[in-house]
Amino acid sequence: MYRLMFSQVLRRFDAEAVHHLTIRTLGVISRVRPVKRAVYRRLAPSDPALRVSAFGVHFPTPFGLAAGFDKNAVCFEALSAFGFGHVEVGTVTAHAQPGNARPRLFRLPAHRAVINRMGFNNEGAARVARRLARVRGVPSIVGVNIGKTKVVPESEAVADYVASAKRLAGLADYLVVNVSSPNTPGLRDLQAVELLRPLLTAVREVTEGQPRRTPLLVKIAPDLADEDVDAVADLALELGLDGIIATNTTIAREGVPTSQPGGLSGRPLKARSLEVLRRLRARVGDRVTLISVGGVENVDDVWERLLAGATLVQAYTAMVYEGPLWASRINRALARRVRRHGHASIQEVIGKTAPARAEFTG
Ligand code: FNR
Repeated sequence: MYRLMFSQVLRRFDAEAVHHLTIRTLGVISRVRPVKRAVYRRLAPSDPALRVSAFGVHFPTPFGLAAGFDKNAVCFEALSAFGFGHVEVGTVTAHAQPGNARPRLFRLPAHRAVINRMGFNNEGAARVARRLARVRGVPSIVGVNIGKTKVVPESEAVADYVASAKRLAGLADYLVVNVSSPNTPGLRDLQAVELLRPLLTAVREVTEGQPRRTPLLVKIAPDLADEDVDAVADLALELGLDGIIATNTTIAREGVPTSQPGGLSGRPLKARSLEVLRRLRARVGDRVTLISVGGVENVDDVWERLLAGATLVQAYTAMVYEGPLWASRINRALARRVRRHGHASIQEVIGKTAPARAEFTG
């Protein structure tokens, strides 16, 4: 039904206009308690076999929505009701900002991909914090992804992230330091360990200082060289980070003949995202939680990421093509697969095909 509507109607409209309409509709559902509760009862994951725990948080399913969709935390409750076991809101910056000039969001249906150069358009940490502080009508697990305000010079980046963390850490089930979006000049340079160490150390002081400590994760780009992926993994171990999210969008255009600038997501990202996950798992084993994201389109992809060592799996682009009921379909298919493989819980699947660490490090 949605696929038909997409191919006949939605794809004719500007991608960002459709996105805003979707956000507005989900925002209404989020605000009308009986409606969101009804959706929740019908579609939210309730099968105990899907439950997973990571960094002290209990998730109803490993499948969640990646950052960038609900940038301002206006509809995460509706998204949870529709079946996402967690919703990562943001990227939020310390100061509100408009993002890049439109058009800045492009669908590539033949490649099941999207290119975006949104540039962290968001209402800023203070407004997002006020929204997150509201009483919730349905259970929802919310990660908050923070980034650098564009006008803040790189020399003041740490203070800018810390300002966001101070406002948002206490309201988040986990906090993500995003150093990997390609649309803020210089941002990805912060992935270099000499810059990343002081940044994560400063933010960690904030997350550790909360009445109930907030798990801290870092989100990395697929375009890092393998040695740099290893270096981030080692830093995560050194600092005792809770997790790594891999990956953000790519600036590569392999197999996608377009020169449109921005971050590419969806199917063309699948192979590299999985490769980065495997590399990270080989390096950190189960000592750091891994969240895999990039090109996840179906239950086979989710399963493969879990087997490779991801505890949580996120997606964004495929939802553009599959529609709002997609998460609940994934959850149902996942639960069936857990049983078919004779497992009592999906937690047993995590890292099953990942080689023992010794094989890599020995
Ligand atoms: C994103 N993504 C993203 N990531 C992030 O950390 N902060 C952000 O603000 C955004 N914004 C954003 C906007 C749009 C339109 C897209 C398509 C993506 C990246 C996203 O979270 C994810 O890492 C990648 O899209 C890869 O996953 P998929 O889309 O291939 O499932």
